[in-house]
Amino acid sequence: MAPQTILLTGGAGFVGANFARLVLRETDHRVVVFDKLTYSGNLENLDGLEAAHGDRYAFVRGDVCDRPAVDAVLDEHRPDAIVHMAAESHVDRSIIDATPFVRTNVIGTQTIVDAIRARLSSERLVHVSTDEVYGDLPLDRPELFFNESSPLAPSSPYAASKAGSDLVVLSAHRTFGIDAVVTRGSNNFGPYQYPEKVIPLFATNLIDGLKVPLYGDGQNVRDWIHVDDHNAGVLAALERGAAGEVYNLGGKNERSNLELTRELLRCFGVGEEMIDHVADRPGHDRRYSIDISKATRELGWSPASDRWEDALESTVRWYRENEAWWRPLKSGEHRAFYERQYGRR
Ligand code: NAD
Ligand code: TYD
Repeated sequence: MAPQTILLTGGAGFVGANFARLVLRETDHRVVVFDKLTYSGNLENLDGLEAAHGDRYAFVRGDVCDRPAVDAVLDEHRPDAIVHMAAESHVDRSIIDATPFVRTNVIGTQTIVDAIRARLSSERLVHVSTDEVYGDLPLDRPELFFNESSPLAPSSPYAASKAGSDLVVLSAHRTFGIDAVVTRGSNNFGPYQYPEKVIPLFATNLIDGLKVPLYGDGQNVRDWIHVDDHNAGVLAALERGAAGEVYNLGGKNERSNLELTRELLRCFGVGEEMIDHVADRPGHDRRYSIDISKATRELGWSPASDRWEDALESTVRWYRENEAWWRPLKSGEHRAFYERQYGRR
């Protein structure tokens, strides 16, 4: 594909920063990150990109709900495509206060759509969503999975706001002909993930000799995908997806939280005495499982990562080697959040 300019919203977050790095490393596209820098947005996630890639990379601070700011970045950089990742992303926070989720995830997506529509231009919009929009599956029916036609049945306020944003995008395609594609990824893991999500939270706790708070019975199942595999799918959707279509991007790698926790404990050579069995998350989804055959067939994409154990170990190594990155994130706002949730620990 000819080099394009990609406007990447939310590019200072976990998935976005890894996407910027992948695109700059593996394609000739230009990347303009547009990010509000909320608690989970961090310019350190993008360190070195300007030095390595010069004019192929730019950063603009802004809010996706701020229409003049969105118009300004579109006018200045005239992107060929928008990859929309900006979001409030943590289920536990959405249970405490859903309003920022509806604002950023729904209104922010509507603002992007309105700005594209008003320009009468032909930017492609890739809306990066989640398998959580389908709700969950029972543990005792392992043969079941969700495909792109499955009904949306979100359980958490986070998932509800993402489902709303998907519908905003798909209806804008139908009504206004906006060139939009939606991806629904499973649970990502890898470097630069904010240490409130389970893998970096548990890994950084274990580095510090602290216990890991496992919710409920630990039997909830997630489908883990390395962030580079997920982002290769997003790029494939940008380059080869059909307008108006949804593509599931899963890792074909389902693990219960207890299995995941045991693997993390093994990486640190410690035993189950390091598990703190805490109260369950309200509305906690039991199992996520998605059929990725459409993305494989139509995008020529499938998750390519090494063995799960190796990918997990190299992720743990990254957190061990990048203490200067995560340690400041586990004080201040993060500590206040956990103290609100569990009391002092
Ligand atoms: P994250 O919380 O690490 O990053 C979110 C980024 O969005 C941050 O840089 C933040 O500053 C920015 N942001 C938030 N509100 C904004 C606003 N109003 N305007 C501009 N920028 C704003 O989240 P993540 O895990 O990197 O997720 C990124 C996207 O990928 C989200 O849309 C999420 O739903 C989707 N996704 C994530 C996963 C996962 O496992 N992490 C899986 C599937 C889909
Ligand atoms: P999380 O990383 O928050 O992702 P999501 O809720 O989007 O799937 O959580 C992944 C799983 O880990 C989920 O089933 C909840 C569980 N979990 C814990 O058991 N303890 C924790 O401290 C956290 C943050 C999550």
